Amino acid sequence: MAIRFIREEGDDILRKKSREVTVFDERLHTLLDDMFDTMYSAEGVGLAAVQVGVLKRAIVIDTRGENEKLELINPVIVKTEGERKTAEGCLSVPGVRGYVLRPEKVTVRAKDRYGEEHEYTGEDLLAQAFCHEIEHLDGGLFIDKVVEFIEDDE
Ligand code: NI
Repeated sequence: MAIRFIREEGDDILRKKSREVTVFDERLHTLLDDMFDTMYSAEGVGLAAVQVGVLKRAIVIDTRGENEKLELINPVIVKTEGERKTAEGCLSVPGVRGYVLRPEKVTVRAKDRYGEEHEYTGEDLLAQAFCHEIEHLDGGLFIDKVVEFIEDDE
């Protein structure tokens, strides 16, 4: 496992659309393991493959710290409920935080590293992470939808 370099805003790759994963091999497993290492090392709660320069529809999430590792391949949001305004940031946009509107509850369907399909439902921070990371796969960044930026000295 290894820590990979996190791409930052201004790097064109972050605006590209990631491709569906069709091969669930050792190379994908290594990518996912490295993404967890990279995410924990940077103290993030989620990371998309594009953030380490790989245009594959793969994300890792852990909103509780190593106890709840989620890896989602080819994720699709199938249901959302509610809406809340919440603070957000991104490892690819260091030093910037802002308020965004996110659903309170989100259900996603995704494959695991072996190609098996699962469905996950998350609330609050987990729902927010699902939305944020899936947006990365289509070239989105949270700063595109910030309703109010948070000043540094707060
Ligand atoms: Ni992000």
